[in-house]
Amino acid sequence: MRYPVICIDGPSGAGKGTVTWRLAQALNYQLLDSGALYRIVGLKAYEAGLVSADASQPIDENALLVLTQSLDISFVPNNDSGRVDIVVNGEAVGEQVRNETVGGYASQIAVFSQVRQALLKLQQDMATRSGLVADGRDMGTVVFPDADVKVFLTASAEARAQRRVAQLLNNHQAADFDAILATIKARDARDENRATAPSKPAADALVIDSSTLDASAVYEQVKAYCQKQG
Ligand code: C5P
Repeated sequence: MRYPVICIDGPSGAGKGTVTWRLAQALNYQLLDSGALYRIVGLKAYEAGLVSADASQPIDENALLVLTQSLDISFVPNNDSGRVDIVVNGEAVGEQVRNETVGGYASQIAVFSQVRQALLKLQQDMATRSGLVADGRDMGTVVFPDADVKVFLTASAEARAQRRVAQLLNNHQAADFDAILATIKARDARDENRATAPSKPAADALVIDSSTLDASAVYEQVKAYCQKQG
């Protein structure tokens, strides 16, 4: 039996997480937060000394692959946070992967095709149990090329940096717009220019620019598109 798959791809800060969560709730589908997979591997690789914070260190691909294959990863929806909790080798990972530093580690290890291959089955298997809303960079292009609905949600780097600044200030944390913008641009460049599964819209994806839209407007647009695709 083949279950419906909805792919929401795009760069970080474009609003994918909110749309994905709301769609999954509304449709009673599972949610695949594929970025969390890469974040986990990135964090574990950093802890093992395989990646450096400033991306200057060459990465030992074989050691990275062994490490990736040693991880037993699963997802558990968390209604309180509106996110999915990640469990690795039996232990909940928590929010420690949800920061820009770990996002940087993730994008360093995400360039390796063997690492991506090692994470592929886990992602594809999620569509064998129920309907799925999948959030990432290559959901519509590589992981679920036959998906029922594909959306590529983007926004200018400036709009995404501004959102991040607002989020940090809201949490009473320091926020430097220029530094955040530079980090976003560096990660975008790495994700868009890598040889394997670069971040880009699938040929049959609806592209939405959320630069001037709020989360509800984006959600309504995506929901209407899903209904139209039927
Ligand atoms: O979406 P998120 O910001 O959590 O992703 C973190 C990083 O993981 C991305 O910048 C990207 O390098 C990588 N990633 C990927 N393919 C995916 C999801 C995330 O390469 N499907």
